[in-house]
Amino acid sequence: MDKPIHANHITISVSNTNRSVSLPLLEGTLGPQVADIRKLHNETGIFTFDPGYGETASCESKITYIDGDAGVLLYRGYPIEQLAEKSTFLEVAYLLLNGELPNEAQFEMFTAHITRHTMLHEQFRRFWEGFRRDAHPMAALCGVVGAMSAFYPESVNISDAHEREVSAYRLIAKIPTITAWAYKYSVGQPFMYPRNDLSYAENFLYMFKAVPTEQYKKNPTLERAMDRILILHADHEQNASTSTVRLAGSTGANPFACIAAGIAALWGPAHGGANEAVLRMLAEIGDKKNIKPFIEEVKDKNSHTKLMGFGHRVYKNYDPRAKILQRTCYEVLGELGIKHEPLLELAMELEKIALEDDYFVSRKLYPNVDFYSGIILKAMGFPTTMFTPLFALARTTGWITQWMEMIEDPQQRIGRPRQLYTGAPRRDYTPINERP
Ligand code: ACO
Repeated sequence: MDKPIHANHITISVSNTNRSVSLPLLEGTLGPQVADIRKLHNETGIFTFDPGYGETASCESKITYIDGDAGVLLYRGYPIEQLAEKSTFLEVAYLLLNGELPNEAQFEMFTAHITRHTMLHEQFRRFWEGFRRDAHPMAALCGVVGAMSAFYPESVNISDAHEREVSAYRLIAKIPTITAWAYKYSVGQPFMYPRNDLSYAENFLYMFKAVPTEQYKKNPTLERAMDRILILHADHEQNASTSTVRLAGSTGANPFACIAAGIAALWGPAHGGANEAVLRMLAEIGDKKNIKPFIEEVKDKNSHTKLMGFGHRVYKNYDPRAKILQRTCYEVLGELGIKHEPLLELAMELEKIALEDDYFVSRKLYPNVDFYSGIILKAMGFPTTMFTPLFALARTTGWITQWMEMIEDPQQRIGRPRQLYTGAPRRDYTPINERP
């Protein structure tokens, strides 16, 4: 990995010791300079304090760039709008993994690698029987992806570049099968085996929707919408789940265990679980006349109610993915002949009211990717419990790309943050009969 340019320095004076340290400022290709604090503790005895790591660059990366103030998202330098419009998910997966768009021969070979690995080991069929039928599919995803390491023991050899590559192909190829089967198990339908003659997105729709007793009908508009949803969710720099994957991976854990950790982190409602929470929220609001009281409740700090699908740690402007999804929403509803979708109308009105309200304006809270994705997925026939698994399906490519980058980074060390300890100072043990 190329070293970032050392442009300037920042000097930090520690007032109570009269000591100061000059720290290099690192400059990336885009984005703000970054103070390199690696020598700070050695030279001054102090650590930094940054709960939630909002001000901390945890790694150097060449994969994804976000400018949260301008609402920009780039994969390997390419704007998300262009990729969503012109590319396909598998091409984006190649781009993320390899850094460049493929030529025709490279793409053909990559597609062949992925399609070769779409089937699950037949023993996986029995895995689902261990889960209750009503288990959340994210629980099944965590378990089954983690268990892949039991089927591919060679994946623990993470210093072998070939093994890393094969693990990446296996994960990208099998995650649609695992996700579709998690759904099929929950509704008691037979598992459908992958079809390698279909595109990545269409194959997933097939495994999710088809039943052995009926002819499966392809729908190019829905296939395109699915593919676009996958592209938009493929990577998003050092978010909570990606950082979890990197942290787990920094210990040398195998890639399947690391991706299972990422799936667990994605499940939470503040992250990937928000798309499910948006639909629950819209259903609870129920009618446009209830929007104003709901907004008042959100603004009341004692209520702990959030406007789900709004706000983002990095985007302080409209999330570019939300804009693309809003358009896709109309295409999907049009294709399905849905002229009047009360949830979409409610969401549009909610967005309009929120964007005019000083509470949201002053805090730079805009719709994020989850605000519209749930409405599209619901129209396409996905139950709400499948929304976050779909996100995990798409993000698996980003996670494994980030994991690969981390393993190949010579600067990589075990992730081990420090703390500001505010507990009891040293004290001596007292026998139970002497305690107050
Ligand atoms: N509704 C109401 N108020 C909000 C919201 C929201 N959705 N989001 C942030 N705020 C408020 C906070 O209460 C805080 O107010 P204060 O300054 O008066 O205390 C202020 O805006 C700043 O917010 P933070 O919590 O500091 O923002 P943070 O970066 O920590 O959180 C997060 C970002 C978790 C995404 C938050 O905006 C949120 O919970 N949103 C709703 C859940 C959601 O949609 N998550 C999906 C994120 S995108 C993704 O993961 C794919």
